[in-house]
Amino acid sequence: TLVIKSECIDVKDGACAAVCPVDCIYEGERMFYIHPSECIECGVCESVCPVDAIRFEDEIGDEAKSFIAINRDVFSDA
Ligand code: F3S
Repeated sequence: TLVIKSECIDVKDGACAAVCPVDCIYEGERMFYIHPSECIECGVCESVCPVDAIRFEDEIGDEAKSFIAINRDVFSDA
């Protein structure tokens, strides 16, 4: 799955959600979140985010690892 990180907070550009082919990116109060089991790992969102907030889960640096759980915890059905 891909994960949205802190760079999205209060930016919420929305380009990622517009290009996602399976509509698995959801708007929250201060940032967007990727549904971990709906994501098909196409990576299109990663390339369009203007603030580079999106990474593949296994390519996330230690400083942003908490965002794996933060994205996951938004979805009770994940
Ligand atoms: Fe946020 Fe970037 Fe998407 S700022 S809403 S992750 S395009």
